[in-house]
Amino acid sequence: MKIAFFNTKRYEKQAFEEANRGGGHEFLWIDLPLRAGTAQLAHGSDAACVFVNDQADAAAIAVLAAGGVKMIATRSAGFNHIDLAAAKAAGIVVARVPAYSPYAVAEYTLALMLSLNRHVHRAYNRVREGNFALDGLLGFDMHGRTVGLIGLGKIGVCTARILQGMGCNVVGHDPVSSAPGVTPVSLVELLGSSHIVSLHCPLTPQTRHLINGESIQRMKRGAMLINTSRGALVDTMAAIEGLKSGQLGSLGIDVYEEEAELFFEDLSETVIQDDVFARLLTFPNVLVTGHQAFFTADALAGIAAATLGNLSEFAATGQCRNALS
Ligand code: NAI
Repeated sequence: MKIAFFNTKRYEKQAFEEANRGGGHEFLWIDLPLRAGTAQLAHGSDAACVFVNDQADAAAIAVLAAGGVKMIATRSAGFNHIDLAAAKAAGIVVARVPAYSPYAVAEYTLALMLSLNRHVHRAYNRVREGNFALDGLLGFDMHGRTVGLIGLGKIGVCTARILQGMGCNVVGHDPVSSAPGVTPVSLVELLGSSHIVSLHCPLTPQTRHLINGESIQRMKRGAMLINTSRGALVDTMAAIEGLKSGQLGSLGIDVYEEEAELFFEDLSETVIQDDVFARLLTFPNVLVTGHQAFFTADALAGIAAATLGNLSEFAATGQCRNALS
């Protein structure tokens, strides 16, 4: 199969070349994100392989279909960047990687929580400047604290297990799933009882801005909010207001609603134009990283193997068990 890879980084190319050793797929590397204006670069390919900040919207899909693309394989679990209805109408099968390493994201979620709680990001800078004072670095024991998980799928369950190992009281809200030892509660109850709220549900029209001004008001004063799922689950302006008033005690995010223009690129020589993002960076109690929760060697190998598995299955049978449409 000839596969056009959009926006692929060096570390991903290595993982895919490795997974394709002897596999017989032909790769076309396109070092640009998928947009309506770049989709024609995939003409002549059987499939397009995309990632979270590509935009497989109706316009891009129409161009892909006109060029003979029959499958879109996303190298991710989330698929909110793909217009499934447009793909179906164009006769394009869409497949995702439903699970690769929930541990990678769950462990990173804990990294954000613990760093924020114990101010590791600030201590790192202080010590390098010879400042060994502890003022401002006071944290709290995780043991005995209540952590609320919104979404109890694969990543939510892994996160719950780690937190339970630390002696946290874990409560969860999920309309479908439950998890061992996690007390199921309503969203309102979760917000009102949790010292830390962590998001592990997908971005859908229903979950967009799930955390907004109203839900932040419902949280315990000074609670921590963690988002390693999708940026638009949180209304960033409402989070900024919450941080300014002290209602939100701290914020740890690996995803941001306007991240498509920022993340995965080295912009250190440019002036960031996004004033909302720039404001976030001014808070001492905010920790932002650039969508790296999935980024372990194990997860990269798993993503490459599963994505190529989807493409091989489709090439052989015209179907794919991980198809979304
Ligand atoms: P999953 O599909 O196993 O679980 C998602 C859970 O969310 C399901 O149990 C579902 O019932 C629940 N859910 C749906 N709507 C909900 C709502 N309104 N309230 C509460 N729960 C709701 O997905 P998985 O693998 O656990 O991943 C979760 C999310 O993590 C993905 O959708 C993706 O956006 C994000 N992710 C982020 C990564 C990163 O690098 N930062 C990497 C991988 C995934």
